[in-house]
Amino acid sequence: MASLCLLCTVDAWGEAAMAVVQIIPTTPFDGQKPGTSGLRKKVKVFAQPHYLENFVQSIFDSLSDFAGQTLVVGGDGRYHNRVAIQTILHMAAANGFGRVLVGQGGILSTPAASCVIRKHQAYGGIILSASHNPGGPDEDFGIKYNIGAGGPAPESITDAIYLRTQTIDSYKILPAEAVDLDVIGSQTLGGMVVEVIDPVADYADLMASLFDFDAIGAMLRDGAFRMRFDAMHAVTGPYATRILEGMLGAPAGTVINGTPLEDFGGGHPDPNLVYAHDLVAEMFGANAPDFGAASDGDGDRNMILGGNFFVTPSDSLAVLAANATLCPGYAAGLKGIARSMPTSRAADLVAARLGIPAWETPTGWKFFGTLLDAGKATLCGEESFGTGSDHVREKDGLWAVLMWLNVLACRREPVSAIVTAHWADYGRTYYSRHDYEAIDSAAAECLMAHLRSEGPKLAGQVLEGFTVAACDDFAYTDPVDGSVSTKQGVRLMFTDGSRVVFRLSGTGTAGATLRVYLERHEPNPALHQQDTQQALAPLIAIAQQVADIRGRSGRDAPTVIT
Ligand code: G6P
Ligand code: ZN
Repeated sequence: MASLCLLCTVDAWGEAAMAVVQIIPTTPFDGQKPGTSGLRKKVKVFAQPHYLENFVQSIFDSLSDFAGQTLVVGGDGRYHNRVAIQTILHMAAANGFGRVLVGQGGILSTPAASCVIRKHQAYGGIILSASHNPGGPDEDFGIKYNIGAGGPAPESITDAIYLRTQTIDSYKILPAEAVDLDVIGSQTLGGMVVEVIDPVADYADLMASLFDFDAIGAMLRDGAFRMRFDAMHAVTGPYATRILEGMLGAPAGTVINGTPLEDFGGGHPDPNLVYAHDLVAEMFGANAPDFGAASDGDGDRNMILGGNFFVTPSDSLAVLAANATLCPGYAAGLKGIARSMPTSRAADLVAARLGIPAWETPTGWKFFGTLLDAGKATLCGEESFGTGSDHVREKDGLWAVLMWLNVLACRREPVSAIVTAHWADYGRTYYSRHDYEAIDSAAAECLMAHLRSEGPKLAGQVLEGFTVAACDDFAYTDPVDGSVSTKQGVRLMFTDGSRVVFRLSGTGTAGATLRVYLERHEPNPALHQQDTQQALAPLIAIAQQVADIRGRSGRDAPTVIT
């Protein structure tokens, strides 16, 4: 039985309005612990009665002083997005928010949500997405809370949310008509104002302020330069179409798979060489365009390609950092460069040359937030196809594409020439990630425990001709807020600067996924055209030998190599 409570509010005309808030009794669900990027579960789990409501109320119960404040709500358009948004709007009204900004059609890419939160000085935001995971009735859904700075909630908040989910016994909701999400403009919901906003406008304005749209537009329109952007039927479709084809004048058809679909057309909206197959086929085919890019389900990841050329995310960060001052928004120079620990150290070499700090953080974009807020870093990147800057507090797929276009418009050289020249200048950091997906969790934990205890004893030993300098389990003390994160991955480091990193994925849904990150720096330009796996072969052998991956995982080979 729901109990009722009268919420006295003041409507837009200053008249007192009585809205009937329902207080619905509930009981906790197990497993509502936010992971690396919020709570992600199958749609069927989220669709259970009270499941989403419990989590949303737990978010609100973990926050304070938001009465009358603004909340931003939007998602990547996947299946269940609209249903979830209606619930959240009715709960936000019942909990006392004053205003909600929601993207038209329930759409906001993750970086655009971050942009809107910051620009409108919102209290925070709720983003509905399971990022690059497939969508549809039998696939994934997700929800995460972002703070007023625009970035993912820090662990202090996500821990409080999780704690609350374990004791929650009721939630508040306003039983009112559904909000029309398709018409731009203001509506009221109880005493709360719902503003349906153009999901692209604020973001597009921000991009135009950072990059030289005249130069990029001139390049895209002159006919000699051809590009393709694969939106993978996900959220960046409307953003890329408006910005690339609309504002910059790229030919119609530049954006492919540009209509967001609830199931992403049955695809896996992850921009990598395997899943972005339409784009990859074209970029590695005859008569390939000059530039190709793709983004993921919620628009925060990116993949960058030249004609017949793949730019690793680690190299992309380094090249963008080295060329950043060509872009108006970064013309004054960078304050620092941050990368996640398993990302290659190519960017560190650029930071050293520029005389600015290079930060090494644990995996997960949230660790960049304090550095960006404190002005200690301007660019950030991760090997997991994430690149971004201090313009928002999320990684940003289309931003990376525009930054590359700005660099290309200034340099007028092929992508491959820019990257190989970068290698010639700084040395090439050969890099690859080997994933062993869905292995037995206990075996994976055992493998990591073995590395933690035995790894440090390898110091000084010579393996496959490489001398072990040190081996540790990466721990990070945030230089701004002092928070400590331990057990972030085992680093096997060699005297020549090569590394093998072992880490368990924090985002998998079945069993455990072991990630092995391999990296070797090659200063000699005569040796820059090797096959990556060949160049890394001794390190691959060392990883196998030191961790006994075959014996412990039961797998002969990685399931995915990127
Ligand atoms: C998400 C986060 C990234 C992080 C990645 C790591 O995509 O947004 O910041 O790099 O997860 O995933 P993993 O599966 O390696 O834990
Ligand atoms: Zn994503």
